Amino acid sequence: MKKPLTASTTPPLIGHNEIAVTGATGFIGTTLIKQLSNAGWQVRALYRPHGGRVPPNLPGVKWIAGDLNNIAALHSLVADVNAVIHCAGAVRGASRADFDQINEAGALHVAQACAAQIVKPRFLLISTLAARMPELSHYAGSKWRGEAAIKTVAEDMRWTILRPPAVYGPGDRELLPLFKSMAKGFAPLPAGANGRFSLVHVEDLVAVMVRWLAQDNAYGQTFELDDGHAGGYDWDSVLDISGRVLRHGGVVRRIPIPITLLKLVAWTNFAAAKLFGYAPMLTPGKIREITHTDWMCDNSEIIRMTGWQPTIDLARGLANIFDKNHKKK
Ligand SMILES: NC(=O)c1ccc[n+]([C@@H]2O[C@H](COP(=O)([O-])OP(=O)(O)OC[C@H]3O[C@@H](n4cnc5c(N)ncnc54)[C@H](OP(=O)(O)O)[C@@H]3O)[C@@H](O)[C@H]2O)c1
Repeated sequence: MKKPLTASTTPPLIGHNEIAVTGATGFIGTTLIKQLSNAGWQVRALYRPHGGRVPPNLPGVKWIAGDLNNIAALHSLVADVNAVIHCAGAVRGASRADFDQINEAGALHVAQACAAQIVKPRFLLISTLAARMPELSHYAGSKWRGEAAIKTVAEDMRWTILRPPAVYGPGDRELLPLFKSMAKGFAPLPAGANGRFSLVHVEDLVAVMVRWLAQDNAYGQTFELDDGHAGGYDWDSVLDISGRVLRHGGVVRRIPIPITLLKLVAWTNFAAAKLFGYAPMLTPGKIREITHTDWMCDNSEIIRMTGWQPTIDLARGLANIFDKNHKKK
């Protein structure tokens, strides 16, 4: 169903309203192009045409085949557009090179294509809160280097960087296994993990991007954002909320997984991934990320600049996920 257009999300009436999006086939990008299409923007979306894949047909969305190393495709993607949302990224990989090739060099290529335009499009980079701690993992480091890369190229461009915390919602594959366990009443978590972290629902994250497009401000800055839950969460509070949301009123029990065991699995996974050439999720770097004690964000600056407000709290977001998975059974 089309959402009603509001002054804060509608495309400008004058000038071109075409937007280029990378990463449009991923978890966040899929929600993004749907919201853009619903809000009446014309979208050019990059996709990798591997395996004869046919991207979804959406009103106003034109697909361009190519990847982040295909400079000609990137120029076709960004030529004459109003803005570029660079959402493509590698969230798993076996080596620093795997991540850097996409998160640093890929971001650089898109920014260079934008900088080469006579009228340079506005540029929004979807980075990550992890970029705050680049030393923790290859992923975090590569996203931080991607941020640095676009700033050097895009000096005379209007760029903005968003650093979301963990994002959840329909289509997410990273947190889904944990949510599925929680729906069954247990949650395998690293033993002793008691850090605090922020979360954001994918619909809210995408809403801030659409708001940024329509507002045409907030340039030259890096913003964190979350669901507005003051002080973030710890795992006990997430399990508590889950227990209350689950219809059977169940308690969600924490199953502590010893860190040494997790590290063993991560190192084995890491070595096997290098040997067999796949992209692992659980790596030593990922363990350092998930056991880091402070992943909390501050919403105030992005709210002040764009007027965006998060609308989906964790109880509502989880209820939706538990409900969908219950119906799929
Ligand atoms: N999910 C989170 O919790 C989270 C949190 C903070 C920040 N982020 C950031 O948000 C962005 C999107 O994440 P996501 O969760 O949506 O990841 P995702 O589901 O893995 O999607 C990644 C997207 O990037 C595309 N991509 C990857 N390498 C590419 C390349 N070389 N050329 C062209 N396209 C390429 C993928 O295309 P294919 O479909 O062809 O693979 C896909 O569309 C990433 O930059 C990530 O760092 C995510």
